Amino acid sequence: MSSRRRRNVIAGNWKMNMTPSAAKELITDIYAKVKGKKGCDVVVCVPYVDIPTVAQAVKGTIIKVGAQNVHFAPKGAYTGEISAEMLKECGVQYVIVGHSERRQYFGETDETVNLRAKAALEAGLTVIVCVGELLSERESGITSEVVSRQTKLALQGVSEEQLKNVIIAYEPVWAIGTGKTATNEEADEVCGIIRSVVAAKYGKQAGKQMIIQYGGSMNAKNAAGLLSMDNIDGGLIGGASLKAEDFAVIVEAAQ
Ligand code: PGA
Repeated sequence: MSSRRRRNVIAGNWKMNMTPSAAKELITDIYAKVKGKKGCDVVVCVPYVDIPTVAQAVKGTIIKVGAQNVHFAPKGAYTGEISAEMLKECGVQYVIVGHSERRQYFGETDETVNLRAKAALEAGLTVIVCVGELLSERESGITSEVVSRQTKLALQGVSEEQLKNVIIAYEPVWAIGTGKTATNEEADEVCGIIRSVVAAKYGKQAGKQMIIQYGGSMNAKNAAGLLSMDNIDGGLIGGASLKAEDFAVIVEAAQ
């Protein structure tokens, strides 16, 4: 059981779901169910076009707005991309970088994940850096290696001061959207490995303070168990974050 004092961060990742009008309904519903639950941080990472609507709806509430990606250049000829300053001006405080869907389908590499993370941090955003192994990597026994490498490379050039605005999400790729969750112990073990990578680079205290989420089919049923583990400080939630009722149960479990 947990003996720690890091704050849980529960972040919904809506992925490519919800038009602005649907987003307004969902966020209204979520707010009604989570208001008053101040025992953890609550974030919703929404599609870019939903940001203004959602930011307006959560103004002054406990819910914070996140984006699902950010470009590393401050501005310029990068068709289709969005900068950190653009996000900030729209009320965004968090941004996901290196999600496995970006790595798998959009050519994201450890290097671009690092560039995106640094640009977001320089702009004052809090970054949720995703790391996680493929099923084949787990089966060949290299989970620790893969996740350690991804963590180290994502944090290259990130200062100790900036690290305070970094959250790492351990998301085993085989558990994302599959309904297959890592067991509490499997998830805790890898989050512990990530913590030791952070401690080796930034010192023991930094390792202790690092917020490390689990993600991958976290839901209303399994959240309490996962969140009770020592090394797990919240969740990055896809499917279950689209149902206000389920998301609220997870937020409750994180109090
Ligand atoms: P899932 O997605 O909860 O639907 O598995 C998690 C994520 O991809 O962040």
